[in-house]
Amino acid sequence: MMRMAVVLSGTGRTLANFLQKSHHGQLLAEVALVISDMEGVRGNHIAEEAGVPLQVLPRERYPIWLFNDKVAELVKEYGIDLVCLAGFLRLLVVPSGFTGRVMNIHPSLLPAFGGKGLYGSRVHAAVIDSGVKVSGCTVHFADAMYDHGPIILQKTLPVSHEDTERTLAERVFVLEQEAYPEAVNLFARGRLLIKDHKVVVDVS
Ligand code: GRF
Repeated sequence: MMRMAVVLSGTGRTLANFLQKSHHGQLLAEVALVISDMEGVRGNHIAEEAGVPLQVLPRERYPIWLFNDKVAELVKEYGIDLVCLAGFLRLLVVPSGFTGRVMNIHPSLLPAFGGKGLYGSRVHAAVIDSGVKVSGCTVHFADAMYDHGPIILQKTLPVSHEDTERTLAERVFVLEQEAYPEAVNLFARGRLLIKDHKVVVDVS
């Protein structure tokens, strides 16, 4: 079974979804490690309750360069095949040899409404403010920029004039819960190829 590491900073809803899907045999990967850069967050408790090894590297003690070095060490130590960013709020440097093995999910249709500072409800506020009629989520391979890198898959929904940040966030998160495991499963099946900085999904 493919071994994945989940990297988070917060509530861990994405981690909970992976664990639930994995429990029901709907994820072709085992959550083998959780790395958190915040102490006391709900995501850490979810990992502990599920009995998944948890490494907490608090921001106060781990400047980002040290955090990145430590993550690179841990993925080797735990024999990790894929790293999934899940509500991680800093910029992870892709460990050497891990290009195309770090994924992120973002609650908008990238390249729109992404980048540093655009996370959580701020994304949905910007979407509503702009008046776009479609939103959704994007799963992509991470590179050296925030919310950037080859796009694996996107799921869309209509934005209604009645939507608020909260209703939109809820509806997009429902899509995320399908999209992220789907991307992980495509990866596990060897169906994702990166060609000319784009992902080709080989469905044959
Ligand atoms: C989601 O909106 C996801 O798109 C973004 O972080 C949020 C999930 O955080 N990257 P969490 O899993 O609830 O901590």
